[in-house]
Amino acid sequence: TAMVARRVVAWRRWLRAMAVLRDVEESFATPTERLQRVVNSLAVEMFAGLASEDASKVRMLLTCVDSLPDGSEEGIYYAVDIGGTGFRFLKVQLGPGSTIINQKIERQPVKKELMEGTSEDFFNSIASTLKNFIEREGDEGRALGFTFSFPVRQFSITSGSLIRWTKEFSIEDAIGQDVAQCLNEALERNGLNLKVNALMNNTVGTLALGHYYDEDTIAAVIIGAGTNACYIERNEAITKCQCLLTNSGQTVVNVEWGSFRPPQIPLTPYDICFYNETTNYYDQGFEKMISGVYLGEIARLVFHKMAQESDVFGTDVDGLAIPFILSTPCLAAIREDDSLDLKEVGSILEEQLKIHNVPLKTRRLVQRVCDIITQRAARLAAAGIVAILQKLGRDGTLCGTTRVRSMTGVPKRSAIAIDGCLYQEYSVFREYLNEAVLEILGEEIAATVVLKVVEEGSGMGAALIAATYSSTRNNSI
Ligand code: GLC
Repeated sequence: TAMVARRVVAWRRWLRAMAVLRDVEESFATPTERLQRVVNSLAVEMFAGLASEDASKVRMLLTCVDSLPDGSEEGIYYAVDIGGTGFRFLKVQLGPGSTIINQKIERQPVKKELMEGTSEDFFNSIASTLKNFIEREGDEGRALGFTFSFPVRQFSITSGSLIRWTKEFSIEDAIGQDVAQCLNEALERNGLNLKVNALMNNTVGTLALGHYYDEDTIAAVIIGAGTNACYIERNEAITKCQCLLTNSGQTVVNVEWGSFRPPQIPLTPYDICFYNETTNYYDQGFEKMISGVYLGEIARLVFHKMAQESDVFGTDVDGLAIPFILSTPCLAAIREDDSLDLKEVGSILEEQLKIHNVPLKTRRLVQRVCDIITQRAARLAAAGIVAILQKLGRDGTLCGTTRVRSMTGVPKRSAIAIDGCLYQEYSVFREYLNEAVLEILGEEIAATVVLKVVEEGSGMGAALIAATYSSTRNNSI
């Protein structure tokens, strides 16, 4: 009887873990009809943001980019790309007819101290690494593109001030400063005779590279450490900041969709709990449900809850109490383990979370949780993409501006350039996203939409835009 009693206790505990799972399944659900409503609300916010930043949950920042590279650019250009997790330094040699003759990319992870230190240290570190890079590469570059992947209020193509940090950066004294000028000053301090020729968001760089290869590219999306999108807007649709609009007729708008909080998607206890932990808490609702800085942490919080409610992870579970101990690449590897005994899941739990000898049925549970979190993220990103199509009247509904159809009456082809490791490297994420776009749009319209991975778009695109803006231009979008 003692044994029976033990079994009953174990069974009850297991049921408690299953109850947590069922709750997660329900609260993370994103049925198509709910996603459609997310699409509509984001499109409404986008409309509002074009009239006034204060009236909207998305900033719709004007980028001052009214020309995109058209393939005629030539010469050698440099770019610095400051992303969510690392710096990239690029040298790109362009030839006629959209040819990239040569490219050199150096990557460097950002140290935590730099993400939270002073702006002088931050920009000095970028400038001195760029200097070493240029010295190694030879000093024949013509211009410098600067990708700065945070919300910036642009004054011109070469200047703009940081509105706020996102993605766990918090260099307080940089807020409000002109980041291009900060880099220019650091370059000068480091004895480099080079100035920023084009300052842009990473979405804008990605759009430029996408457009360089495919003229139907109308928008770009980043799904990496953070998430965001930009697209080409008609100037008539933009009623704010008229002085930043040129007479080229169109402007690239940086949506900053990370700050959108979809009203139809409940914040789960895990989202709420984690809001309290992150540097920029209570902001960036969409980003926190979708992107790489956060997905692993949401999973950890669910496992932590399961460990509190049951003994599915055994008794030695201190690892689960450490914030951000489970990275998103590990979450992806857990989800993608297709071995029968889920060996990889077991070793990640051992190595990352220091939980040993996890039984197979718990490993299955762990994999299922990672699946649910991935699915919500990918499907919300899909809703974001469709919202842009709706805004442009390319989603087949009449909710957007006017329907954009080609001469034959078929909706026009829309290419969307996508950069960022989550979409590129996590195939399950990509499949869920593509599937949701199809579900929301239906087959006929989805067939006109091409989602294209544009590798290194943010940095390469910065070199391209620097090329466009440092030569005499006649290539408006
Ligand atoms: C964050 C930034 C945004 C950037 C995105 C992707 O959302 O605010 O500017 O584009 O991350 O890196």
